[in-house]
Amino acid sequence: MVKIENVTKIYEQKENPKDKKGIATKALDNVSAIIEDGEFTAFAGPSGSGKTTMLNLIGCLDSITSGKIFIDDKDISTMTSQDKNLIRQQKIGFIFQSYNLIPVLTAQENVELALDLLKKYSKEEISSMAYEILKEVGLDGLQNRKPNQLSGGQQQRVSIARALVKKPSVILADEPTANLDSKNGLNIIELMQELNRTHNTTFIFSTHDKMVMEHCRRIIKIKDGKFID
Ligand SMILES: Nc1ncnc2c1ncn2[C@@H]1O[C@H](COP(=O)(O)OP(=O)(O)O)[C@@H](O)[C@H]1O
Ligand SMILES: [Mg+2]
Repeated sequence: MVKIENVTKIYEQKENPKDKKGIATKALDNVSAIIEDGEFTAFAGPSGSGKTTMLNLIGCLDSITSGKIFIDDKDISTMTSQDKNLIRQQKIGFIFQSYNLIPVLTAQENVELALDLLKKYSKEEISSMAYEILKEVGLDGLQNRKPNQLSGGQQQRVSIARALVKKPSVILADEPTANLDSKNGLNIIELMQELNRTHNTTFIFSTHDKMVMEHCRRIIKIKDGKFID
């Protein structure tokens, strides 16, 4: 479960390093929501509304200005960055708009790396888990290709496999279809729907794509840093 309690995020940007105070942007303004286990939910709203900020806070990639976020009853707002790193490694899978695969590694090696970091499985286990999950996302036979030998849709499948393989509590997907044409975008969202059903992993998206919204079971509308629906 992810519980968001009165969360505000203010970015402060200094024009000049010597400035005492920077220009403040309130990206999230006192928002609250509960996302239960197994949900398939999207934050939807126009560009600049705070979607990426929300996912980054849930994903322990940035610090909360005020308020609390709980992941499986653990309050991440008061954690040290070391503890947040652990939560991020063990409980969160990320899927990005631009896939963020490591270009010199094969699909298989990209997925293995996510497992390797957990220091929980043997080399043989890692190799077979990565191979199987790539099969499950429809990439059987392509395990040894590097990202530049794969289409956009196939690269996004690798990144889904990489997120899923460590069996996280939550997968955060920031505009996962934004770089894909409508047919590939649809295939990817249907794949995630199926994985959500079979693995019962919680999926939280950000999107402004109508097609993605139509496939989500729940939409949290966001505008100017506020949840409006
Ligand atoms: N690192 C940052 N520093 C300063 N302002 C930021 C930063 N990241 C985002 N913002 C600002 O916060 C607001 C929300 O941005 P973002 O969460 O990226 O929106 P979205 O993902 O919905 O497009 C925008 O006004 C944006 O300019
Ligand atoms: Mg964004």
